[in-house]
Amino acid sequence: MIYLDNSATTPIDEAVVDAMLPWLRDGYGNASSQYGLGRAARVAIEDARSSVAECLGAHPAEIIFTSGGTESNNAIIKSCVGPSGLARRVLHGATEHHAIIHPCQDVEALGIRRHEIPVDTRGVVDLDALAALDAPSSLVCVMAANNETGVLQPLSAIREVCKGALLHTDAVQAFGKIPLNLTALGVDFATVSAHKIHGPKGVGAMFIRKGIDFKAHQTGGSQERNRRAGTEPTALIVGMAAAAKRAVDAIEERSAHCRRLTTLARERIAASIPNVRFNCVAELGLPTIVNISFTDAEHLDGEAILQLLDLNGVAASNGSACVSGTMQPSHVLVAMGRPAAEARAAVRLSVSYRTTEEEIISAVAILANIIREMRVITHN
Ligand SMILES: Cc1ncc(COP(=O)(O)O)c(C=O)c1O
Repeated sequence: MIYLDNSATTPIDEAVVDAMLPWLRDGYGNASSQYGLGRAARVAIEDARSSVAECLGAHPAEIIFTSGGTESNNAIIKSCVGPSGLARRVLHGATEHHAIIHPCQDVEALGIRRHEIPVDTRGVVDLDALAALDAPSSLVCVMAANNETGVLQPLSAIREVCKGALLHTDAVQAFGKIPLNLTALGVDFATVSAHKIHGPKGVGAMFIRKGIDFKAHQTGGSQERNRRAGTEPTALIVGMAAAAKRAVDAIEERSAHCRRLTTLARERIAASIPNVRFNCVAELGLPTIVNISFTDAEHLDGEAILQLLDLNGVAASNGSACVSGTMQPSHVLVAMGRPAAEARAAVRLSVSYRTTEEEIISAVAILANIIREMRVITHN
Protein backbone atom coordinates (compact mmCIF):
# COMPACT_ATOMS: atom_id res chain seq x y z
CA MET A 1 0.00 0.00 0.00
CA ILE A 2 1.18 3.53 -0.78
CA TYR A 3 0.01 5.63 2.14
CA LEU A 4 -0.63 9.22 1.07
CA ASP A 5 -3.11 10.26 3.73
CA ASN A 6 -0.78 11.58 6.40
CA SER A 7 -2.97 14.62 7.01
CA ALA A 8 -5.72 12.28 8.21
CA THR A 9 -3.37 10.39 10.49
CA THR A 10 0.17 9.05 10.59
CA PRO A 11 1.71 5.70 11.51
CA ILE A 12 3.11 5.79 15.02
CA ASP A 13 6.92 5.84 15.31
CA GLU A 14 8.63 2.82 16.91
CA ALA A 15 10.58 5.12 19.23
CA VAL A 16 7.26 6.60 20.40
CA VAL A 17 5.87 3.14 21.13
CA ASP A 18 9.06 2.35 23.07
CA ALA A 19 8.68 5.50 25.14
CA MET A 20 5.05 4.61 25.93
CA LEU A 21 5.39 0.92 26.78
CA PRO A 22 6.79 1.25 30.32
CA TRP A 23 3.82 3.51 31.18
CA LEU A 24 1.31 1.05 29.73
CA ARG A 25 2.82 -1.98 31.49
CA ASP A 26 4.25 -0.97 34.83
CA GLY A 27 3.78 2.77 35.29
CA TYR A 28 0.06 2.50 35.91
CA GLY A 29 -0.07 4.77 38.96
CA ASN A 30 -2.61 7.56 39.07
CA ALA A 31 -0.65 10.80 38.74
CA SER A 32 -2.83 12.36 41.46
CA SER A 33 -1.81 9.69 44.01
CA GLN A 34 0.71 10.42 46.74
CA TYR A 35 2.66 7.13 46.76
CA GLY A 36 5.70 6.37 44.59
CA LEU A 37 3.86 4.87 41.61
CA GLY A 38 1.65 7.95 41.35
CA ARG A 39 4.53 10.36 41.87
CA ALA A 40 6.50 8.68 39.06
CA ALA A 41 3.55 9.18 36.67
CA ARG A 42 3.30 12.81 37.76
CA VAL A 43 7.00 13.39 37.01
CA ALA A 44 6.61 11.77 33.56
CA ILE A 45 3.58 13.93 32.76
CA GLU A 46 5.27 17.14 33.88
CA ASP A 47 8.40 16.29 31.87
CA ALA A 48 6.14 15.70 28.86
CA ARG A 49 4.40 19.02 29.45
CA SER A 50 7.72 20.89 29.53
CA SER A 51 8.81 19.16 26.37
CA VAL A 52 5.57 19.91 24.46
CA ALA A 53 5.71 23.52 25.72
CA GLU A 54 9.24 23.90 24.42
CA CYS A 55 8.20 22.55 21.01
CA LEU A 56 5.48 25.22 20.84
CA GLY A 57 7.40 28.18 22.26
CA ALA A 58 5.15 28.17 25.32
CA HIS A 59 5.45 27.95 29.11
CA PRO A 60 4.61 24.51 30.62
CA ALA A 61 1.76 26.05 32.64
CA GLU A 62 0.15 27.05 29.33
CA ILE A 63 -0.18 23.44 28.11
CA ILE A 64 -3.26 21.37 29.04
CA PHE A 65 -3.45 17.78 27.84
CA THR A 66 -6.72 16.61 26.27
CA SER A 67 -7.93 13.73 24.10
CA GLY A 68 -6.99 15.50 20.84
CA GLY A 69 -7.70 18.36 18.48
CA THR A 70 -11.48 17.99 18.46
CA GLU A 71 -11.87 18.10 22.22
CA SER A 72 -9.39 20.98 22.50
CA ASN A 73 -11.27 23.10 19.95
CA ASN A 74 -14.62 22.34 21.58
CA ALA A 75 -13.24 23.19 25.02
CA ILE A 76 -11.82 26.53 23.94
CA ILE A 77 -14.88 27.66 22.00
CA LYS A 78 -17.49 26.44 24.47
CA SER A 79 -15.60 27.66 27.54
CA CYS A 80 -14.85 31.10 26.15
CA VAL A 81 -17.90 32.16 24.23
CA GLY A 82 -21.15 32.85 26.01
CA PRO A 83 -23.07 35.43 28.00
CA SER A 84 -20.79 34.96 31.03
CA GLY A 85 -17.71 33.89 29.05
CA LEU A 86 -14.62 35.80 27.96
CA ALA A 87 -16.08 36.58 24.51
CA ARG A 88 -19.60 37.41 23.40
CA ARG A 89 -19.18 36.68 19.71
CA VAL A 90 -17.33 34.12 17.66
CA LEU A 91 -15.63 34.64 14.29
CA HIS A 92 -14.09 31.81 12.32
CA GLY A 93 -12.43 31.35 8.95
CA ALA A 94 -14.64 29.89 6.22
CA THR A 95 -12.20 27.03 5.62
CA GLU A 96 -11.79 25.88 9.23
CA HIS A 97 -12.00 22.18 10.12
CA HIS A 98 -15.42 21.00 11.29
CA ALA A 99 -13.88 20.63 14.76
CA ILE A 100 -14.03 24.45 14.81
CA ILE A 101 -17.12 25.13 12.69
CA HIS A 102 -19.44 22.74 14.52
CA PRO A 103 -18.68 23.98 18.07
CA CYS A 104 -19.12 27.55 16.75
CA GLN A 105 -22.52 26.50 15.38
CA ASP A 106 -23.31 24.93 18.76
CA VAL A 107 -22.74 28.21 20.60
CA GLU A 108 -24.69 30.03 17.88
CA ALA A 109 -27.66 27.76 18.63
CA LEU A 110 -27.44 29.05 22.21
CA GLY A 111 -27.87 32.64 21.00
CA ILE A 112 -24.25 33.71 20.39
CA ARG A 113 -23.49 35.69 17.24
CA ARG A 114 -21.30 33.77 14.78
CA HIS A 115 -19.58 35.24 11.73
CA GLU A 116 -17.66 33.52 9.01
CA ILE A 117 -14.50 35.27 7.78
CA PRO A 118 -14.25 34.81 3.99
CA VAL A 119 -11.10 33.61 2.24
CA ASP A 120 -9.79 34.63 -1.18
CA THR A 121 -9.38 32.26 -4.13
CA ARG A 122 -6.00 31.18 -2.71
CA GLY A 123 -7.70 30.14 0.54
CA VAL A 124 -6.13 32.95 2.59
CA VAL A 125 -8.30 34.78 5.13
CA ASP A 126 -9.47 38.17 3.85
CA LEU A 127 -7.90 40.64 6.30
CA ASP A 128 -10.11 43.56 5.17
CA ALA A 129 -13.22 41.48 5.80
CA LEU A 130 -11.86 40.55 9.23
CA ALA A 131 -11.17 44.22 10.02
CA ALA A 132 -14.71 45.11 8.90
CA LEU A 133 -16.13 42.51 11.29
CA ASP A 134 -14.71 44.62 14.11
CA ALA A 135 -13.47 41.86 16.37
CA PRO A 136 -13.14 43.31 19.94
CA SER A 137 -14.90 41.20 22.58
CA SER A 138 -14.90 38.27 20.12
CA LEU A 139 -13.15 34.95 19.94
CA VAL A 140 -11.48 34.77 16.52
CA CYS A 141 -10.63 31.26 15.28
CA VAL A 142 -8.23 30.98 12.35
CA MET A 143 -6.29 27.81 11.68
CA ALA A 144 -2.52 27.86 11.20
CA ALA A 145 -2.65 25.48 8.20
CA ASN A 146 -5.58 23.97 6.36
CA ASN A 147 -6.08 20.22 6.55
CA GLU A 148 -7.35 19.83 2.95
CA THR A 149 -5.20 22.23 0.98
CA GLY A 150 -2.27 22.96 3.31
CA VAL A 151 -2.85 26.72 2.91
CA LEU A 152 -1.07 28.68 5.69
CA GLN A 153 -2.82 31.63 7.31
CA PRO A 154 -0.98 34.91 8.08
CA LEU A 155 -1.39 34.67 11.86
CA SER A 156 0.87 37.64 12.73
CA ALA A 157 -1.12 39.92 10.41
CA ILE A 158 -4.38 38.51 11.81
CA ARG A 159 -3.15 39.24 15.34
CA GLU A 160 -2.49 42.85 14.28
CA VAL A 161 -5.94 43.25 12.71
CA CYS A 162 -7.87 41.94 15.71
CA LYS A 163 -5.90 43.46 18.56
CA GLY A 164 -8.73 43.54 21.09
CA ALA A 165 -9.98 40.03 20.41
CA LEU A 166 -9.06 36.63 21.77
CA LEU A 167 -7.28 34.73 19.01
CA HIS A 168 -7.40 30.95 18.73
CA THR A 169 -5.46 28.98 16.17
CA ASP A 170 -6.11 25.34 15.35
CA ALA A 171 -2.51 24.26 14.79
CA VAL A 172 -3.27 20.54 14.42
CA GLN A 173 -1.92 20.41 10.85
CA ALA A 174 0.90 22.93 11.26
CA PHE A 175 2.45 21.44 14.40
CA GLY A 176 5.65 19.58 13.61
CA LYS A 177 5.52 20.60 9.93
CA ILE A 178 6.46 24.27 10.17
CA PRO A 179 8.19 26.09 13.06
CA LEU A 180 5.63 27.41 15.57
CA ASN A 181 6.26 29.84 18.39
CA LEU A 182 2.91 30.56 20.01
CA THR A 183 4.31 33.23 22.33
CA ALA A 184 5.87 35.14 19.44
CA LEU A 185 2.65 34.81 17.39
CA GLY A 186 0.71 36.37 20.25
CA VAL A 187 -2.20 33.95 20.06
CA ASP A 188 -4.33 33.37 23.15
CA PHE A 189 -5.25 29.76 22.42
CA ALA A 190 -3.99 26.97 20.18
CA THR A 191 -4.69 23.28 19.69
CA VAL A 192 -2.48 20.38 18.63
CA SER A 193 -2.88 16.62 18.27
CA ALA A 194 -0.38 13.76 18.55
CA HIS A 195 -1.63 11.39 15.86
CA LYS A 196 -0.78 13.82 13.04
CA ILE A 197 2.92 13.71 13.97
CA HIS A 198 3.52 9.95 14.33
CA GLY A 199 2.25 9.89 17.91
CA PRO A 200 -0.66 7.97 19.45
CA LYS A 201 -4.33 8.64 18.79
CA GLY A 202 -6.50 9.97 21.63
CA VAL A 203 -4.18 12.65 22.99
CA GLY A 204 -3.61 16.29 22.19
CA ALA A 205 -3.16 19.57 23.94
CA MET A 206 -4.52 23.05 24.19
CA PHE A 207 -2.38 26.11 24.71
CA ILE A 208 -4.03 28.68 26.96
CA ARG A 209 -2.01 31.86 27.29
CA LYS A 210 -0.91 32.68 30.83
CA GLY A 211 -3.25 35.04 32.62
CA ILE A 212 -6.43 33.92 30.83
CA ASP A 213 -9.22 33.04 33.22
CA PHE A 214 -10.23 29.77 31.54
CA LYS A 215 -13.16 27.78 32.90
CA ALA A 216 -12.98 24.01 32.49
CA HIS A 217 -15.38 22.63 29.89
CA GLN A 218 -15.18 19.23 31.50
CA THR A 219 -15.53 19.12 35.27
CA GLY A 220 -15.30 16.31 37.79
CA GLY A 221 -11.73 16.52 39.03
CA SER A 222 -8.94 19.01 39.61
CA GLN A 223 -6.52 17.55 37.05
CA GLU A 224 -4.69 19.78 34.59
CA ARG A 225 -4.81 22.68 37.05
CA ASN A 226 -8.60 22.57 37.14
CA ARG A 227 -8.82 23.07 33.38
CA ARG A 228 -9.61 19.55 32.17
CA ALA A 229 -10.97 16.97 34.58
CA GLY A 230 -10.13 13.28 34.20
CA THR A 231 -7.27 10.95 35.12
CA GLU A 232 -4.34 11.74 32.86
CA PRO A 233 -3.38 8.94 30.41
CA THR A 234 0.34 8.85 31.23
CA ALA A 235 1.39 6.63 28.33
CA LEU A 236 -0.45 8.73 25.73
CA ILE A 237 0.96 11.96 27.11
CA VAL A 238 4.50 10.56 27.19
CA GLY A 239 3.95 9.32 23.61
CA MET A 240 2.77 12.74 22.49
CA ALA A 241 5.83 14.43 23.96
CA ALA A 242 8.16 11.90 22.33
CA ALA A 243 6.50 12.37 18.93
CA ALA A 244 6.54 16.16 19.27
CA LYS A 245 10.22 16.28 20.19
CA ARG A 246 11.16 13.97 17.31
CA ALA A 247 9.12 16.06 14.85
CA VAL A 248 10.41 19.42 16.02
CA ASP A 249 14.06 18.31 16.36
CA ALA A 250 13.98 17.03 12.76
CA ILE A 251 11.66 19.73 11.38
CA GLU A 252 14.08 21.13 8.78
CA GLU A 253 15.13 17.76 7.46
CA ARG A 254 11.59 16.31 7.42
CA SER A 255 10.11 19.40 5.85
CA ALA A 256 12.79 19.52 3.12
CA HIS A 257 12.12 15.84 2.35
CA CYS A 258 8.34 16.39 2.19
CA ARG A 259 8.77 19.53 0.06
CA ARG A 260 10.92 17.57 -2.44
CA LEU A 261 8.19 14.93 -2.67
CA THR A 262 5.28 17.34 -3.08
CA THR A 263 7.27 19.30 -5.69
CA LEU A 264 7.86 16.04 -7.56
CA ALA A 265 4.16 15.19 -7.27
CA ARG A 266 3.18 18.59 -8.63
CA GLU A 267 5.58 18.27 -11.59
CA ARG A 268 4.40 14.75 -12.44
CA ILE A 269 0.72 15.68 -12.08
CA ALA A 270 1.12 18.78 -14.26
CA ALA A 271 2.89 16.70 -16.94
CA SER A 272 0.48 13.75 -16.96
CA ILE A 273 -3.00 14.99 -16.06
CA PRO A 274 -4.65 17.66 -18.25
CA ASN A 275 -7.23 20.14 -16.90
CA VAL A 276 -5.90 19.97 -13.37
CA ARG A 277 -5.99 22.76 -10.81
CA PHE A 278 -3.64 22.94 -7.81
CA ASN A 279 -5.61 24.17 -4.84
CA CYS A 280 -2.67 25.75 -3.08
CA VAL A 281 0.39 27.40 -4.55
CA ALA A 282 3.46 25.72 -3.10
CA GLU A 283 4.84 28.89 -1.48
CA LEU A 284 1.64 29.46 0.51
CA GLY A 285 1.26 25.94 1.83
CA LEU A 286 2.52 23.18 4.07
CA PRO A 287 5.34 21.11 2.58
CA THR A 288 3.26 17.95 3.08
CA ILE A 289 0.05 18.44 1.03
CA VAL A 290 -0.86 18.52 -2.65
CA ASN A 291 -4.56 19.09 -3.34
CA ILE A 292 -5.83 19.01 -6.90
CA SER A 293 -9.18 19.35 -8.59
CA PHE A 294 -10.22 19.02 -12.21
CA THR A 295 -11.71 21.78 -14.35
CA ASP A 296 -13.88 19.19 -16.20
CA ALA A 297 -15.07 17.78 -12.87
CA GLU A 298 -18.64 17.29 -14.07
CA HIS A 299 -17.30 14.25 -15.97
CA LEU A 300 -15.55 12.81 -12.91
CA ASP A 301 -16.80 11.07 -9.78
CA GLY A 302 -14.76 12.05 -6.70
CA GLU A 303 -15.74 9.01 -4.69
CA ALA A 304 -14.91 6.66 -7.56
CA ILE A 305 -11.46 8.25 -7.96
CA LEU A 306 -10.64 7.49 -4.31
CA GLN A 307 -12.07 3.98 -4.55
CA LEU A 308 -10.06 3.23 -7.69
CA LEU A 309 -6.93 4.61 -6.03
CA ASP A 310 -7.62 2.28 -3.10
CA LEU A 311 -8.15 -0.70 -5.42
CA ASN A 312 -4.78 0.12 -6.97
CA GLY A 313 -3.09 0.28 -3.58
CA VAL A 314 -3.02 4.05 -2.97
CA ALA A 315 -4.58 5.53 0.18
CA ALA A 316 -5.58 9.15 -0.42
CA SER A 317 -8.58 11.31 0.40
CA ASN A 318 -10.45 14.54 -0.21
CA GLY A 319 -12.56 16.90 1.82
CA SER A 320 -15.92 15.79 0.52
CA ALA A 321 -18.28 13.98 2.81
CA CYS A 322 -20.92 11.48 1.87
CA VAL A 323 -24.22 12.62 3.38
CA SER A 324 -27.34 10.49 2.83
CA GLY A 325 -25.74 8.76 -0.15
CA THR A 326 -24.64 11.91 -2.00
CA MET A 327 -21.21 13.48 -2.08
CA GLN A 328 -21.16 16.93 -0.55
CA PRO A 329 -18.65 19.37 -2.01
CA SER A 330 -15.67 20.30 0.16
CA HIS A 331 -16.63 23.45 2.10
CA VAL A 332 -12.98 24.50 1.89
CA LEU A 333 -12.88 24.49 -1.91
CA VAL A 334 -16.33 26.06 -2.17
CA ALA A 335 -15.16 28.90 0.13
CA MET A 336 -12.22 29.37 -2.26
CA GLY A 337 -14.69 29.91 -5.09
CA ARG A 338 -14.42 26.53 -6.82
CA PRO A 339 -17.58 25.29 -8.56
CA ALA A 340 -19.47 22.60 -6.58
CA ALA A 341 -18.66 19.84 -9.10
CA GLU A 342 -14.97 20.61 -8.80
CA ALA A 343 -15.18 20.76 -5.01
CA ARG A 344 -16.77 17.30 -5.01
CA ALA A 345 -13.97 15.62 -6.93
CA ALA A 346 -10.70 16.83 -5.45
CA VAL A 347 -7.80 14.59 -4.49
CA ARG A 348 -5.49 15.25 -1.54
CA LEU A 349 -2.11 13.55 -1.41
CA SER A 350 -0.37 14.08 1.92
CA VAL A 351 3.13 12.83 2.61
CA SER A 352 5.31 12.29 5.66
CA TYR A 353 9.02 11.93 6.26
CA ARG A 354 8.53 8.21 5.62
CA THR A 355 7.12 8.61 2.09
CA THR A 356 9.52 7.81 -0.75
CA GLU A 357 10.09 9.23 -4.23
CA GLU A 358 9.19 5.86 -5.78
CA GLU A 359 5.84 5.93 -3.99
CA ILE A 360 5.07 9.38 -5.38
CA ILE A 361 6.04 8.39 -8.93
CA SER A 362 3.87 5.24 -8.78
CA ALA A 363 0.91 6.96 -7.13
CA VAL A 364 0.81 9.81 -9.67
CA ALA A 365 1.05 7.32 -12.56
CA ILE A 366 -1.87 5.34 -11.09
CA LEU A 367 -3.90 8.53 -10.56
CA ALA A 368 -3.20 9.74 -14.12
CA ASN A 369 -4.42 6.40 -15.48
CA ILE A 370 -7.61 6.50 -13.44
CA ILE A 371 -8.45 10.02 -14.58
CA ARG A 372 -7.64 9.21 -18.22
CA GLU A 373 -9.86 6.12 -18.21
CA MET A 374 -12.68 7.88 -16.41
CA ARG A 375 -12.59 10.68 -18.98
CA VAL A 376 -12.69 8.20 -21.86
CA ILE A 377 -15.73 6.47 -20.35
CA THR A 378 -17.67 9.63 -19.49
CA HIS A 379 -16.90 11.37 -22.81
CA ASN A 380 -18.18 8.38 -24.84
C1 LIG B 1 -7.15 21.11 11.32
C2 LIG B 1 -7.66 20.01 12.20
N1 LIG B 1 -8.24 20.32 13.37
C3 LIG B 1 -8.69 19.37 14.20
C4 LIG B 1 -8.60 18.03 13.90
C5 LIG B 1 -9.12 17.02 14.85
O1 LIG B 1 -8.06 16.46 15.61
P1 LIG B 1 -8.25 15.06 16.38
O2 LIG B 1 -8.30 14.00 15.33
O3 LIG B 1 -7.03 14.97 17.26
O4 LIG B 1 -9.49 15.16 17.18
C6 LIG B 1 -8.03 17.66 12.67
C7 LIG B 1 -7.97 16.24 12.28
O5 LIG B 1 -8.21 15.89 11.14
C8 LIG B 1 -7.53 18.68 11.81
O6 LIG B 1 -6.98 18.37 10.64
